Amino acid sequence: CNYLKDKDRKEILEILCNGLARQEYRGYDSAGLCIDGDKPRDIVYFKEVGKVAGLRKRIAESSIDTKKSFVSQVSIAHTRWATHGPPSTINCHPIRSDVTSEFIVVHNGIVTNNAALRQVLQNRGYRFESETDTEAVAILLKYVYDSQPDKRITFTALVKTVLKELEGSFAFVFKSIHFPNEIVTARRGSPLLIGVKTDKKLKVDFVDVEFAGPEADSKTIENLEPTSPTARLAPPSSGPKMSRRQSRNFMSEDGMPQPIEFFIASDASAIVEHTKRVLYLEDDDIAHISEGQLHIHRLRRDEPGQAGTPATRSIETLEIEIAAIMKGKFDHFMQKEIYEQPESVVNTMRGRVNFDDHRITLGGLRSYLHIMRRGRRIVFCACGTSYHSALATRAIFEELTEIPVSVELASDFLDRKTPIFRDDVCVFVSQSGETADTILALRYCLERGALCVGVVNTVGSTISRETHCGIHINAGPEVGVASTKAYTSQYIALMLMALQLSEDRISFMERRNAIIDGLRALPAQIKSVLDLDSSLRSLATGVLANSRSLLLMGRGYQHATCLEGALKIKEISYMHSEGILAGELKHGPLALIDENMPVIIVMTQDSLYPKVQSAFAQITARKAQPIVICNEGDKGIKEGVKTIRLPKTVDVLQGLLNIIPLQLLSYHLAIKNGFDVDFPRNLAKSVTTE
Ligand code: G6P
Repeated sequence: CNYLKDKDRKEILEILCNGLARQEYRGYDSAGLCIDGDKPRDIVYFKEVGKVAGLRKRIAESSIDTKKSFVSQVSIAHTRWATHGPPSTINCHPIRSDVTSEFIVVHNGIVTNNAALRQVLQNRGYRFESETDTEAVAILLKYVYDSQPDKRITFTALVKTVLKELEGSFAFVFKSIHFPNEIVTARRGSPLLIGVKTDKKLKVDFVDVEFAGPEADSKTIENLEPTSPTARLAPPSSGPKMSRRQSRNFMSEDGMPQPIEFFIASDASAIVEHTKRVLYLEDDDIAHISEGQLHIHRLRRDEPGQAGTPATRSIETLEIEIAAIMKGKFDHFMQKEIYEQPESVVNTMRGRVNFDDHRITLGGLRSYLHIMRRGRRIVFCACGTSYHSALATRAIFEELTEIPVSVELASDFLDRKTPIFRDDVCVFVSQSGETADTILALRYCLERGALCVGVVNTVGSTISRETHCGIHINAGPEVGVASTKAYTSQYIALMLMALQLSEDRISFMERRNAIIDGLRALPAQIKSVLDLDSSLRSLATGVLANSRSLLLMGRGYQHATCLEGALKIKEISYMHSEGILAGELKHGPLALIDENMPVIIVMTQDSLYPKVQSAFAQITARKAQPIVICNEGDKGIKEGVKTIRLPKTVDVLQGLLNIIPLQLLSYHLAIKNGFDVDFPRNLAKSVTTE
């Protein structure tokens, strides 16, 4: 949105496309934008599935007049990483409320009550053209606007009314033909910032938050139960007109408006080439920009200083370079992704776990649950880390469903031409959804008539499209070749599947409830494990610094942890590392043990603890000096033994915590040797060939 400064359309399109390209590292599957057309109320869209380069091509091939210039205008652009509905031009943002584009929205995040909102709006006669959750927001804006008898509501009050109805996480930018040259943006949970580019003379350091901003009804939609015949939308009152306190902030000393441009983005990398002056919005902030003025309001009526809400948003000057910004405060994507896990596990559970009544709702499996429960066998098929997530949860599937489970490496499964039958349930686990071996195994099972279920991170990927049903793990894009946050999210998604399949079994109720309570505590526990980072770095640069090989030993639920930990270490630090089932120790691996062989033994407290203790005794008797991963407060471990102490959770969830120190350790081992952590030699993020 620029003000008092001519800009032609070519320049505006360049800014938008460059901004999108700068965020390519985040991963996306389609890109789109909209700009003002030649006539008033005319909006022009460009959308393309795939890369920003494709979007640029589409624009270049269009007949749009790129020379038309604007003094003030609002254009929005977005790269979409699909959550609701596959990648397609219809599902690509910006999303409009109707064919005349009364309201236009771009959105990062997930609106978890989308289905209920959609149903209510459809009942009121509104039509949807996309499968996105964002469209419910665009149409809700139109509904609220339509409900105003005198149409005197401000854009901000309108947005406020709508936001109060939304559950989930979001960062939004809104545009409307009813409010030309105005833009409203708001966040809850997803990042959002505003870049400010002003004349050099204009030095502004902060913007006041207008705590007594435009009010709207506290609740607009009552009774959101979609099936209820009484579901209704109650129009809000228009509320008092927005307080027009002049912001001194963007006036020059003589009180005259100055040329000013505002850039809204989820990430500074998109705008840093235009301005380094940036203001970060807080959760529940609503920012309104019009005529060179920026006003920040709060979604709810809180007082300055209350609930920890500061009264101003300061404008910071970014010092860092683009590459660094993309990784935030982290040195590598892998490190960032390890640290994202307290949030990514929440995203996997969001809208699916009701912690109060211990219920699980996996919408993507709904119509297939009865077939799954009747299956004679569950066959997991995956590669690499995804295979380990299936191994980690196999026991709980067997325990809760009492259906035999096999876990297959996709390549070996195909090599053996494994017999598959119509009453088999085959589950394909894949971060990318594009791994060639897993896709081939899927097609093999489809041909044999089995029910095929996907557990995938990338929406719209081949596996998510070709399976009958499934779960998206919603971990967010993963850039580092060594998978970290996808593992913990896959583990949780599979756990939720086992819990849902067994929901009708009274005899398992206590066990299920304990697991669900454990899931609730998990994000905070992951955070506390991440606090061990510096001691893991010391381990990598100290005791393990000159090791050429490392064994990881455990059993039961922790066998998968050892395999996954060993994989992480080989992938990025190129050190030989092997995950060993402690039960097999005497059948070979014991021969490797002497005082020079470093061993990590996973000895957290579950029913197999005594057996792992005996493995510990056997290796220490052979002079090994193992590092023990154990629970906090475990007094059974002799003084002088090196320990990594972790919070205790339910046995079947313990692997989610135990893997994190191993992820961090592998990271530090690689860094110590100066290796490229994010792009290890010879490996690819997505292996699309057999
Ligand atoms: C590659 C990646 C691994 C990943 C494996 C399976 O080897 O480097 O990190 O675990 O593929 O990929 P998928 O996308 O199917 O989970």
